[in-house]
Amino acid sequence: MVPAMRKAIYRADDDEARALFARAPVVHIATTRDDGTPMLKTVHAVLDEGGLAFHGAPAGEKTEALGRPAVASAAETIASIPSTFLDPERACPATTYYLGAQAHGILAEVTCPARKARVLRAIMTKYQPEGGYVPIDAEHPLYRKAVRGILVAELRIERIDGKAKLGQNRAPGERVRVLEQLWKRGAAGDVAAAALIVARFPDLPRPGFLASPTGARLVCHLTAAELDEAAALLGGEAWVAGVDPGDLREAIAASSARVGARDASGRLVAFARAVSDGRTAWIYDVVVRADARSRGLGRAVMGLLLDHPDVRRCRHVRLTTRDAEPFYARLGFGRLSERPRHPWTSVEMIASR
Ligand SMILES: CC(C)(COP(=O)(O)OP(=O)(O)OC[C@H]1O[C@@H](n2cnc3c(N)ncnc32)[C@H](O)[C@@H]1OP(=O)(O)O)[C@@H](O)C(=O)NCCC(=O)NCCS
Repeated sequence: MVPAMRKAIYRADDDEARALFARAPVVHIATTRDDGTPMLKTVHAVLDEGGLAFHGAPAGEKTEALGRPAVASAAETIASIPSTFLDPERACPATTYYLGAQAHGILAEVTCPARKARVLRAIMTKYQPEGGYVPIDAEHPLYRKAVRGILVAELRIERIDGKAKLGQNRAPGERVRVLEQLWKRGAAGDVAAAALIVARFPDLPRPGFLASPTGARLVCHLTAAELDEAAALLGGEAWVAGVDPGDLREAIAASSARVGARDASGRLVAFARAVSDGRTAWIYDVVVRADARSRGLGRAVMGLLLDHPDVRRCRHVRLTTRDAEPFYARLGFGRLSERPRHPWTSVEMIASR
């Protein structure tokens, strides 16, 4: 029996570990050769029937490992945490926050052509999601020979260990300090890391930059899984009329900053985004759900967006608005041009520092 080596505070559940394997660009598999020497392979892996399946050359080194115990590993760095986040002198607090997964089991060959084809289809879907090929079928003339010739193997998982190292060993006050520092540093991935930690540990005190009107929770980064909700919230607004929801979703995904607020029931009730080149940021799609307006949420979400590292560091922040000029004026925006305007045209506004 192999001892489980995860400290309880860092343990992530099996589903999370499986999800990490499913999205990992590559998976490393360690095993041994017949003569006992170690072997480490990097594979394109997919989950299939609970196993971790991958392909290889029929006469390659991987065939030597069939039938042997093996361990697979995948990891994702969330944020690099320098010692200075927590201590001005000692190096000891330096660490990396990450998600990791290890799966233990036995390597086995997949021989059934239909299942081999399914694994290969899943690999294609994962690595070439845009399509552009005839779907792999074990009996299709294009693939019949190839499917039979290629090696498809799987790690039959007997035990899976998920790990999420996100500062759980620290006192709540220190963890909040790390969140504040991530927000302040604002390097690539830092805001997403802060959002992930806040979402994962809902009982952690809220850091200052997420202070929000009562009953609401500010979200400093909307994940890919939350984009549809944002697109739906915007759906009713005049300026997105006729915009394809898929295009809107892509525009939101491509934004430098996308923030929002959720109400007590978890519903997304406010959203705003910005595109930044480091010098100028453009704000788009500011919206508060109709039944949640006039309670300070618009101001809170705009405050968060203007404080977002990708916006905060810009010299100019710009936007256009048709009806909400006084709302933005209260946030420090002024008209870019004093030219008279027609009531149906938008006004360009700018805030500079
Ligand atoms: C504009 C909008 C985002 C404001 O959100 P909100 O949560 O209602 O605003 P808040 O409660 O935070 O209000 C902040 C301040 O702005 C004022 N304000 C809000 N919307 C305003 C508007 N359209 N015109 C004038 N003032 C407005 C509020 O009265 C409040 O003033 P106060 O500081 O004196 O109390 C929201 O009304 C909305 O989603 N509107 C429809 C979509 C839209 O027009 N978006 C802007 C596109 S450019």
